[in-house]
Amino acid sequence: IVDLILKAAETDANVLITGETGTGKDRVAELIHLNSKRKKGPFVKVNICAIPETLMESELFGSEKGADKLRRGKFEEANGGTLLLDEIADLPLGSQVKLLRAVQTKKIMRLGSSNEIDVDVRIIATTNKNIEQEVARGNFREDLYYRLNVLRLVIPPLRERPEDIIVLVNYFIKKYSKREGKKIAGVSKGAMEKILNYSYPGNVRELENMIERAIIITNSDEIKEEDIIMNFNVIPEPESIEGKSLNKLLEEKEREIILKTLEKCKWVKTKAAKALKISERKLRYRMEKLGIKG
Ligand SMILES: Nc1ncnc2c1ncn2[C@@H]1O[C@H](COP(=O)(O)OP(=O)(O)OP(=O)(O)O)[C@@H](O)[C@H]1O
Ligand SMILES: [Mg+2]
Repeated sequence: IVDLILKAAETDANVLITGETGTGKDRVAELIHLNSKRKKGPFVKVNICAIPETLMESELFGSEKGADKLRRGKFEEANGGTLLLDEIADLPLGSQVKLLRAVQTKKIMRLGSSNEIDVDVRIIATTNKNIEQEVARGNFREDLYYRLNVLRLVIPPLRERPEDIIVLVNYFIKKYSKREGKKIAGVSKGAMEKILNYSYPGNVRELENMIERAIIITNSDEIKEEDIIMNFNVIPEPESIEGKSLNKLLEEKEREIILKTLEKCKWVKTKAAKALKISERKLRYRMEKLGIKG
């Protein structure tokens, strides 16, 4: 990844960073900026999914609506630097057209104004969604996709890079033992085994929280197996989830829950639906989807 970051930093092309939640996409984006020739310029982050659709345009491009309501948008703020568009796949279709125009022409217009303003901005976009699938489904404009996906960084999930787990564990131990004022040398053999045998659906973020917790609760100078508490104990062991998407896993869980409930309710669907707090129609629909006959 480091090589790719440096390569991306060398050029001025737009970058699309994809990877599961918590893999470090925001962090990678910032590293690219800090190593690029724009490092002295601003690094502006916009969290797309936190902005309501009605405010998207003024947030990105600014606004001159109303007498004294002149507002610069994120594009202008990022002028000369890098603009991080976080969770780009959540950008509503209507705003996608406007973003495409800004990216293509390097000019923006504030809302309520007809003056074009030149902006020199490099765009780094991130998403944890399968953006190609969103394009195929018509939820994301293909032309915009190509404009953003000039360079592509795919950050693999943490469970696929055990070497990194070890490095990160040591890094987070240092960070949090310092904060807590504790002297902690490392982790026991058993604890490390437990750490390495987990699947980290929340990736680095989850690992970090886990180590933080362990440092707080431990009362020895070494983190022990019992100090390591996984957040998502319900997730199946790595063997069984390997190669499966989250959707697939959720479906399996759902199937199990529905079957169990039907069993309990002697296959009376009205009863089962009530127990699951869903409508009977929805239950029938889900059963058909999951291939449950009854
Ligand atoms: N290599 C790393 N070293 C240290 N901390 C890291 C590393 N990678 C990620 N982190 C930490 O993990 C957390 C999640 O990282 P980040 O916010 O970049 O993830 P993300 O991929 O953008 O996730 P999301 O898709 O949920 O937005 C942050 O607290 C970040 O500091
Ligand atoms: Mg992020």
